Amino acid sequence: MSITILGFESSCDETGVALVTCSPGQVPVLRAHALYSQVQMHQAYGGVVPELASRDHVRRALPLAREVLAKAGAELAEVDIVAYTQGPGLAGALLVGAGVASALGAALGKPTLGVHHLEGHLLSPFLSADPPEFPFVALLVSGGHTQLMRVDGVGQYGLLGETIDDAAGEAFDKSAKLLGLGYPGGPALSRLAQQGDDQAFDLPRPLLHQPNLDFSFAGLKTAVMIALRKLGPVPSEQQKADLAASTEAAIVEVLVRKSLRALKESGLQRLVVAGGVGANSRLRRDLNAVAMRRGLRVHYPELELCTDNGAMIAMAAAMRLQAGLARPNCDYRFEV
Ligand code: KG4
Ligand code: ZN
Repeated sequence: MSITILGFESSCDETGVALVTCSPGQVPVLRAHALYSQVQMHQAYGGVVPELASRDHVRRALPLAREVLAKAGAELAEVDIVAYTQGPGLAGALLVGAGVASALGAALGKPTLGVHHLEGHLLSPFLSADPPEFPFVALLVSGGHTQLMRVDGVGQYGLLGETIDDAAGEAFDKSAKLLGLGYPGGPALSRLAQQGDDQAFDLPRPLLHQPNLDFSFAGLKTAVMIALRKLGPVPSEQQKADLAASTEAAIVEVLVRKSLRALKESGLQRLVVAGGVGANSRLRRDLNAVAMRRGLRVHYPELELCTDNGAMIAMAAAMRLQAGLARPNCDYRFEV
């Protein structure tokens, strides 16, 4: 018997809705998804304003759900379970998603299922044309998290290492802010980096030579700040591009080298990259190059599904249900 899941994502500044159908023993199928990004609204403030984010989720959630159902040619009555992002994220924004999902579930007489946002990211590569097989090492790199995990199956997650301070996405965002680039900083810094010389500044590679799988990016941000000060009050566009390229190179090198170490130590040949920073083209280029040389496989979500979206939430709900791990209407903990 197949199950149809309507999933809502609203943890930060994207409202995402998706419809996924799963049948026993088969990879769940994404029937349609829709996303509304609040980026433009928050741009004027240089970052996400939580209250504005919550209010906008209220405006977008149901119209997006209607759009998804229309795209999929489905009726609301076909929905068996309403899934939503349970956390982590902005409290008000999460409450909107949980509220909408609970109200819809109650109105339809269908159960709801809370999904951990990071598990959504982690399982998002299963929505790609080239889904991974278990077991694999996962590099989870978002705006709030940087973790290396050993993944043996759905719900079977072992934490290998994580950041002891800032996340990789945060390092991109904060460095971008120092360089006067807009929000969101990661893509903006990456675009500017393409015009720059990545050897121009000798920036630190924190914890690279420590014999562990942890990360630290707070010192890098300080190093960027000091480098910028040395350039005087009005650095040239080329100097800024060089600093952007050097910053990106430093972050990416640490992510690549630690991922390789995690693969080596776990004896695995497959790496899955997930989370917003997984959209970074230099990270993909450098990982693909080293993977080719060493006979490793690297899987990514589709580019549009790297950052927050509803498809990953509906997909994670489907995979947890298939694995017999999820009980609708019950909270669960994402154990690592
Ligand atoms: O996964 P995500 O959408 O939200 C969280 O769960 O945090 O990740 C957002 C993060 C932001 O820090 C953003 O700057 C970063 O991902 N990001 C990028 C790129 N696209 C998004 N960082 C570097 N290069 C990119 N192309
Ligand atoms: Zn996210």
